[in-house]
Amino acid sequence: MTGIAATARVFDLIDRPPEVDDGYVTLVRCKEENGEIKECEERTGMWAWKHPHQADGTVTYTRLRGDVRMFDVDFEYEPGKPVLRGISLYAKPGQKVAFVGATGAGKTTITNLINRFYDIADGKIRYDGININKIKKADLRHSLGMVLQDTNLFTGTVMDNIRYGKLDATDEECIAAAKLAGADDFITRLPEGYNTFISGNGANLSQGQRQLLSIARAAVADPPVMILDEATSSIDTRTEAIVQRGMDALMKGRTVFVIAHRLSTVKNSDVIIVLDHGRIIERGTHEQLLEQKGQYYQLYTGAFELE
Ligand SMILES: Nc1ncnc2c1ncn2[C@@H]1O[C@H](COP(=O)(O)OP(=O)(O)O)[C@@H](O)[C@H]1O
Ligand SMILES: [Mg+2]
Repeated sequence: MTGIAATARVFDLIDRPPEVDDGYVTLVRCKEENGEIKECEERTGMWAWKHPHQADGTVTYTRLRGDVRMFDVDFEYEPGKPVLRGISLYAKPGQKVAFVGATGAGKTTITNLINRFYDIADGKIRYDGININKIKKADLRHSLGMVLQDTNLFTGTVMDNIRYGKLDATDEECIAAAKLAGADDFITRLPEGYNTFISGNGANLSQGQRQLLSIARAAVADPPVMILDEATSSIDTRTEAIVQRGMDALMKGRTVFVIAHRLSTVKNSDVIIVLDHGRIIERGTHEQLLEQKGQYYQLYTGAFELE
C-alpha cells in the first residue's frame, strides 16, 4: 500500500506539464575579430547572446555583460493579489544592488522574476538590452549564479558537488573555486579531502560548511550576474566571517542582486533599494538614505534587524 502511494506521487510528477520555453535568444561562446563578435567552438571565456531576427532572417550578437534593468514591473502570484507594483531599477555591469525591507515586502519575488521562475504581468525586464522573455530559459539561468539560504547538496563527493555549478569543470577549476570561496581550508581537513563523500544533503557537514560549498559551486560557474540571499541563520562568528569573505570574493567584478541581512553588505552596495508592500519606497547609498531619515534610517537605527 505504501508502494502504491509513493508510485502515485511519482506519476503525479511525471504528468506535470513541462515548463514552457519559447525563448530563442541563446548564449554562445564567442571571440572578437577586427572588433566584430564571432561565434566559435573554443573555450574563449567570452560569451555572447545570439539573437536571430525572425523578421529579416539576420542574426546579431551581443556581448554578455550582465546589465539588468526592470521597467515598471507589476507582478502577482495569484490573480487580484498584486505583489510587486511599478518596480523600475537598473544594475550596470559590476554594480551591486541590495534589497532591504520587511518580510513579505517582495525581495525574493524580484529575484524570482530575473531568472524567470515566474513571468511578469506587466512591464519589461531587459538583460544586456534584450527582453528576457526572448531568452531561452536554460541559457538565461546559465548566465545567473544563485546562492540561496538553503543549500542543496547531493549524494556524491565534495568535488562532484562543486562541479555541479559547471558540469564540464576540471578538478583544478573546482579547487580554484573552492579557494576563492574560502572552502578549501575545511575541505582539505576532511578525512578524504575533495573525495569525501557527502550524504543526505550534507548531514555530515556544518551549516557554514554547506554554505561555503554553495559559494564554491557558484564560483565555478563564473557567471556575470549573481543573486544572493544572505543567510540569517546563526553560525558561529568565526565561520560567519569566512562565509562573508567568500561572499565578498564571489561578488567582486559581477553584477549582484543581494537580499541583504548584513550591514557590511548593505554599506558596500552601489544602491540600496528599500521595499515595502511590493513598492520601492526609497533608494540610494547608505549615506544618502541615512540623511533622508526615512524608513531605511529607522531600520538602521533600530539595531538593523533586517529580514
Ligand atoms: N509562491 C507564492 N505564491 C503566492 N504568494 C507568494 C508566493 N511567494 C511569495 N508570496 C507572497 O508575495 C509577497 C512577497 O513575498 P516575498 O517576495 O517572499 O517577500 P520577502 O522576500 O521580501 O520576504 C508576500 O505577501 C508573500 O506571501
Ligand atoms: Mg525572502
